[in-house]
This record gives sequence, structure tokens and C-alpha cells, in this order.
Amino acid sequence: MELTDVFKEKRTLITGGMGFIGSNLAHRLVSLGARVSIVDSGDSSMGANPFNLADILNQVDLKVADLRDDQVIERMIAGQEYLFNLAGQASHAGSMEDPLADLEINARCQLSIVEACRKHNPGIKIIYAGTRQSYGQVRQLPIDESHPIDPVDYNGISKRTGELYHLVAHRIFGLNACSLRMTNVYGPRMRCRDGHLNFIGLWIRRIIEGKPIPVYGQGTQIRDPNFVDDVIEAMLLAAASPISNGQVYNLGGLEAVRLIDLADRMIETAGGGSRVLKPFPEARRRIDIGDYQANFSKIQRQLGWQPRVALTEGLSRTIDFFRQNQEHYW
Ligand SMILES: NC(=O)c1ccc[n+]([C@@H]2O[C@H](COP(=O)([O-])OP(=O)(O)OC[C@H]3O[C@@H](n4cnc5c(N)ncnc54)[C@H](O)[C@@H]3O)[C@@H](O)[C@H]2O)c1
Repeated sequence: MELTDVFKEKRTLITGGMGFIGSNLAHRLVSLGARVSIVDSGDSSMGANPFNLADILNQVDLKVADLRDDQVIERMIAGQEYLFNLAGQASHAGSMEDPLADLEINARCQLSIVEACRKHNPGIKIIYAGTRQSYGQVRQLPIDESHPIDPVDYNGISKRTGELYHLVAHRIFGLNACSLRMTNVYGPRMRCRDGHLNFIGLWIRRIIEGKPIPVYGQGTQIRDPNFVDDVIEAMLLAAASPISNGQVYNLGGLEAVRLIDLADRMIETAGGGSRVLKPFPEARRRIDIGDYQANFSKIQRQLGWQPRVALTEGLSRTIDFFRQNQEHYW
């Protein structure tokens, strides 16, 4: 199956398309010849960044609006063939600081999106951005989709709730929805200003600035970073196949590494830099999930997805991007 054949001229809507993953997806869909609409609140306290879309702005239809206003999605959903539903409050710490805003965006808003699809466009295909955070403390590695859901923070609850609205709407109303549970996604266009959304962006910024990377604890936690292009490939494959309807899939990277080794790999890839071990801030330690490595054999088996970008290559491409564009991201 050629993705160009699937998406050429197709009407696609991306919620959260000014953010990290959504903007990379928009670039890919434009390159596949799709007709791309985007809705995003443009909230710079999240990952929204106008520069993320600067070079395709005349090829997409961008509406800056808050999806908490239910009429926004009702107006935009008609006639769309695919919905990539990425708008979300993605900060784990942020969900503990402002739980009601997190609930509103990740849960109530998701119900309103699902209901708008059911009422105004029941044939649309929806890809929802789920998260490994919903699993909570991991019981054994690598973990598959049957692992218990036992979140360690409010974000894990709200994101799972948003996911469930999609899955239940599939079961009851036949909505063509699925969820991809993502792990640490990294790559060009990610937020680097601080560690609010992800630590990898902050680490990259500090390397480029010649400052030491802060690694919490002993840096022994395991993560399986997933390069953004691979995540987008998974979204497109899931969108293109009816097999994914009603399904949840784990995504994961090619390699699982200890954070301290990830820091060293970044330093090596960047050709310089340093790291420093720091005590875990208490608020972060309390919501840490420990080690994580996804078993993504289900999506491999059902949709033929496979992460392809090796960690060193992904880091190199990410560092190059931010060296060239840092003034738009710091
Ligand atoms: N980046 C990761 O590692 C990761 C991991 C697991 C899950 N996810 C999920 O993937 C999705 C995208 O993540 P990202 O890293 O691109 O985050 P991001 O913060 O860069 O992008 C999210 C976008 O959603 C927009 N948004 C938020 N609330 C909105 C609202 N009420 N109305 C309109 N737009 C709104 C923001 O302005 C932002 O541009 C999120 O739902 C997140 O929970 C991301």
C-alpha cells in the first residue's frame, strides 16, 4: 500500500496541529498530497509554535481556536475523511498543577469531539493520541496493551478517559476510531524551552547552549524514545486500515536505554557537552513511572508498522534541526 495513494486529495483534520507531533504530521500529509486542515488554540504554554507550520502555511487551512468551545469542532468536522486527534494537555506535572484544565481538555473536550463525529460525520476515521502514561508503574518489561491501567498522575487518568470515549463510541456507535499509546516522542519541532512537556527537548537545548544536562536520580530509568517520523508512519498506517478500528496499539522506539546512557549518546552525537546527576525533584519523583519499554508487536503484526529510525540517527537529525532553528524554540 502506497500512502500517497491513500491520502492524495483526502480531507484530513488535525487537532493540535501547531504542536510538536501534529505539525510534523501536517508536513507529511502535505507531502502526500492531502488537503490538510488544522485546529489549535495556539497555546504557547503547551507545544504550540507558529514556526512549526511556517513553511507550509499556504498549503494548510489553519484555524486558531480553542476546542473547549464545542462549536469549533462541530463546524470543522463536516466533510473531513480523517481526524488525527492530537490536541491535548500533555504535561504530567501540569496535570497535577491544574487538574481541572487537564480534565477539561483531555476528557470532556474529547467527548465533545467524539460526539461531533458521531452526529455530523459518522463515517470519519479517527486516530487518537493515547499515552503509555496511563499504565502507571510498569510491572514487567516490555509491556503490551494488556498491562493493567493504573495511572500515577492525573494526566494518565484524563488521557485514558479520552481514549475510552473513542473506543466506546466505536463499540456502541460503530465509529471508526483507534488509539496509539505513545512513549517519549522526540524530534524536530518539539518544545525545548523547558522540561514542562518532555525532558529530551530541554536536554537538547542545554547541549546546544553548552550547559550540562540534568539527569535525575542515578539515571538508571529505562525509556524507549520514539522518533517522530516513526510515530507519524504509525498514525498514517492506522488511518489507512480498517483493521485498526476499535484497537489500541503501543508504539515504541527501536532501542531502550537508561537515561544516563541517553544523555551520553546525545553528548556523543552532538560532538560535545556534559551531564550532571541531580536529586529527583520530589514532585517529579512522586509521578515517575519507573522503567518503560513498549512491546509493540501488536501493531507490527496487524499493520506492519516498525520503528525505523535508530536512536543515534534520530538524535542527530533533532540536534541539527535545533542548531539551525533555535531562535524559534528557546
Ligand atoms: N510527545 C510525546 O512524547 C507524547 C507521548 C504520549 C502521548 N502524547 C500525546 O500526543 C498529543 C500531541 O502531543 P505533542 O507532544 O505534540 O504535544 P504539544 O503540546 O506539542 O501539542 C498539543 C497541541 O494541542 C493544542 N491544544 C491543547 N489544548 C487545546 C485546546 N483546548 N484547543 C485546541 N488546541 C489545543 C496545543 O496548543 C498544542 O499545540 C497529545 O495529546 C499528547 O498527550 C504525546
